Amino acid sequence: MDADFSELHGKTAIVTGASSGIGLATARLLAKNGVRVGLVSRSKETLEELSGKLPGSRPIPADMTKIPQIKKMVAAAMKQFGRIDILINNAGQGYDAPVEKTGIGTFRYIYDLNVIGPLVAMQQVIPCMRAQGGGSIINISSGTALMNLPGMSAYSSSKRALAGISLAARLELQADKIVVSVVYPYITRTNFEKNTIHVVPEPEDNREPAGRYPPDSAEFVAEKIVGGIVSGEPEIFSHDWMKAPRSGA
Ligand SMILES: NC(=O)c1ccc[n+]([C@@H]2O[C@H](COP(=O)([O-])OP(=O)(O)OC[C@H]3O[C@@H](n4cnc5c(N)ncnc54)[C@H](OP(=O)(O)O)[C@@H]3O)[C@@H](O)[C@H]2O)c1
Repeated sequence: MDADFSELHGKTAIVTGASSGIGLATARLLAKNGVRVGLVSRSKETLEELSGKLPGSRPIPADMTKIPQIKKMVAAAMKQFGRIDILINNAGQGYDAPVEKTGIGTFRYIYDLNVIGPLVAMQQVIPCMRAQGGGSIINISSGTALMNLPGMSAYSSSKRALAGISLAARLELQADKIVVSVVYPYITRTNFEKNTIHVVPEPEDNREPAGRYPPDSAEFVAEKIVGGIVSGEPEIFSHDWMKAPRSGA
């Protein structure tokens, strides 16, 4: 049986990266529990089609690497819903490259998307949430933020930065009843691996990431994320064993 999150009924949320994978499963789970969701990604048509299937949702296309578009997106969500109770900063992308071969332009792009985009979205929603008397911000980091992984320095460090920002903001915003949490998903079956930028192209038959345990489903991670909104825990791990620092997948 699906977990019951009906206490969220009537709330409003922004979910970035809602067109695919973890964001899509999270948007679906929220809508199923009566949350009105602003669906954000670059794929306008996909979001429009999805919005038709999720009652109360609205497509709000935006490129999360473009600061003016992020500001417009939050303003549009406020205009549509009148309030923003939940922000889920989920849009993100991987970049596999050894430090020596890391392209500075690509590194900057990954930081724009994985760190600065979420930071700007937080800056836009904080005044709205403060004026409303509170809210929840959930930032999707990664299990790689807890590990030292050769070939993943740009991505894993961007996710460490996002976790650090989240936990500092949590303390800063406590008095405003704005609860900031960070989620660390384990390897999850989505388009993430396909969309990861590889400095050395991967062979076609080597797309499935190798981990110690089988990958999770996006729906499993969505339950962790929505559960985190309800529990307000600072750090949410897909699996308890991820809490111990480790050096490999
Ligand atoms: N899958 C995993 O194994 C895994 C593990 C740990 C953490 N994560 C994290 O989980 C989050 C979701 O990833 P996923 O696995 O669901 O991957 P995914 O299937 O590739 O989905 C990524 C989402 O981000 C959106 N996105 C990408 N670039 C964007 C941009 N510039 N502006 C706006 N939206 C953008 C994509 O939408 P458009 O292309 O339509 O813009 C898509 O909706 C990411 O932050 C990822 O780092 C994933």
